[in-house]
Amino acid sequence: MRTPLLLLALLGSLIRPAVLTAQTPADRLIDSLLARMTLEEKLGQLNLPPVFGRLSPAQTDMVRRGLVGGFLGFDGAEATRDVQRLAVEQSRLHIPLLLGHDVIHGYRTIFPIPLAEASTWNPEIVEAAARSAGREARAAGLNWTFAPMVDIARDPRWGRIAEGSGEDPYLGSVLAAARVRGFQETLLATAKHFAAYGAAEAGRDYNTVDVSERTLREIYLPPFQAAVNAGVASIMSAFNEIAGVPSTASPWLTDTVLRQQWGFNGFVVSDWTSIEELRAHGIAASRAEAGRLALAAGIDMDMSSGIYVDSLPALVQSGRVPMAQVDAAVRRILRAKQRLGLFEDHNRGVAATAPPLDRDLARRVAREAIVLLKNERALLPLGAGTRTIAVIGPLASDTTAPLGPWHARGQAGDVVSVLTAIRERAGTATTVLHALGTGVTNGDTTGIAAAVALARRADVTVLVVGEPDTMSGEGGSRTRLDLPGAQERLLHAVVATGKPVVLVLMNGRPLVLSWAAEHVPAILETWFLGIEAGHAIADVLFGDVNPSGRLPVTFPRSVGQIPIYYNAKNTGRPIVESQHYTSKYLDSPNTPLYAFGYGLSYTTFAYRDLQIRAARLSALDTLVVTVTVANTGARPGTEVVQLYVRDDVGSVTRPVRELKGFQRVALESGAARTVEFRVPVRELGFWGASMQYVVEPGTFRVYVGTNSTADLSAGFEVVAP
Ligand code: NOJ
Repeated sequence: MRTPLLLLALLGSLIRPAVLTAQTPADRLIDSLLARMTLEEKLGQLNLPPVFGRLSPAQTDMVRRGLVGGFLGFDGAEATRDVQRLAVEQSRLHIPLLLGHDVIHGYRTIFPIPLAEASTWNPEIVEAAARSAGREARAAGLNWTFAPMVDIARDPRWGRIAEGSGEDPYLGSVLAAARVRGFQETLLATAKHFAAYGAAEAGRDYNTVDVSERTLREIYLPPFQAAVNAGVASIMSAFNEIAGVPSTASPWLTDTVLRQQWGFNGFVVSDWTSIEELRAHGIAASRAEAGRLALAAGIDMDMSSGIYVDSLPALVQSGRVPMAQVDAAVRRILRAKQRLGLFEDHNRGVAATAPPLDRDLARRVAREAIVLLKNERALLPLGAGTRTIAVIGPLASDTTAPLGPWHARGQAGDVVSVLTAIRERAGTATTVLHALGTGVTNGDTTGIAAAVALARRADVTVLVVGEPDTMSGEGGSRTRLDLPGAQERLLHAVVATGKPVVLVLMNGRPLVLSWAAEHVPAILETWFLGIEAGHAIADVLFGDVNPSGRLPVTFPRSVGQIPIYYNAKNTGRPIVESQHYTSKYLDSPNTPLYAFGYGLSYTTFAYRDLQIRAARLSALDTLVVTVTVANTGARPGTEVVQLYVRDDVGSVTRPVRELKGFQRVALESGAARTVEFRVPVRELGFWGASMQYVVEPGTFRVYVGTNSTADLSAGFEVVAP
């Protein structure tokens, strides 16, 4: 163990005290409203009921009586204008409404699912997609989105891995901030689900979470803090408990960490009925008690439970719930409305006609999200000599799956299928044959023979298989990660023809691809790419675009390897395949099938001249690393240069490596560029034995390269200042 510890009191960026500011005109407006509100009207501001289709007469009446702070799931320019008018003109205090919706990866223009967007490793394009989605949503009357979902996920059995940025806290933080910036150009954003929802035991949605505070702070919380630092307006509490305390009733999470330590000054909303669910968790015996616990923990807005409006008035009157708690929550909601400019103009940005679909951007994001997993003997891109292509598989012509599990107002009619795009691109000189082969989940094998016959007639088969969109997302946990239904059989049968096969995968999570990785010559991971899925896939198949996506999550060889992630600990017995008593499995190679950060290109890249500018640094310095990357193949391409750091010896154990930087670098064939990374040394710290953030003196290693197994490395040392 190294001493002395370098305690970083300078952690301005990590722990920020709440800032007291002078009274502004906005505060005065809020004060004057608060002074005039009845208890019922105050609690009304904290009430967020869902709308299913249209407002019910009871909901209309509640708006008039000031018993609603906002709605979720209610959109459309005309409908929202009417409901805002109702609130502003007919309620006693004329307070406009928050109108929230799950605008996750698009409103009407559906972009790739967040996990796919994360595969771009391109914060600029991810921000642009969020900005575009925000504008469309705002035009349709919404002013709040329940996104970005920033949950780290190390378990692909968990269906909601589709909605986040994968397994890494650094990549997750960069993309969280990008999405917040993008959405908040027009809407309020929400970082969700606070906290550690992705750590559900066995990947079963809503399941118990029990992680150490260190893992929480180092792995699960950083993307939330990045969202807070980017100015996110709201945070959504999670359904899960952490070590016995449900997140929706955790003063430590909401008050201590979020508000006091990070200085968050927005508002916190519960997730759906998570307040009511405190009863099922077994920490509240009644609805009223559940409401009391949630409000006391700092949950400002009650989504869907209706408990704050129906059960808290009596508790406030009896003194069991302090009025100060209610006032603090109301103040935060009013401040959010104020921040949106709703008091001046609740219709700003709302448009009578919907903007045109943002197809060009959707296609660009989708192209960058595609990950080339395998390309034996350069089967891809398809050559000019390809005369007959068999496009086989239940997802080849599917226009629903590419929308993914959350697609707001996305419509299948807007989706360009793979088959359509291949036909378009192939032109008249190439014959395109098509067969479904089987369904996505139905297990029907009767079409396999016909599909195999087509594959035999073709020069190449593009086999489009995967999961239906309903198999990931909320409640979408799986115990098996193979292709559902009879698709594995279809795959085996088509490959058995001996003809070249390109496997195009659509799925919301890493699948177990061990058989395919061994037997199929070319594999493209396309996730769910949104409305331009087909075009983007055809762009890559025909070589109009050179793939540049990289995996934001590890692909296991089998379900039994899960959880498997790159930033693991070494253990006291690191894996040595030939030694029995090491931390390994006997019946499988112990490496992942595809590592975090992995992805191929139609060209090749080489790295040289890794240099560290100053190899002795203090915690106040910035580590400067340079490396030269060359495109050594015949085509232009984009490499994602990745930088990992390992802390050799710590006072607590450290991961074998951690991503600390990445850059997308476009290079012409034969070109080389020197890339510079600047990493503040204070970002190389961790949560020490007494749960203080520390940067310890000692030696470190930098690894730079094309994925998390990169071996080009150099050392440096952190010394006391
Ligand atoms: C429940 C989901 O967990 C959350 O992500 C979503 O925002 C809300 N429902 C509202 O739809």
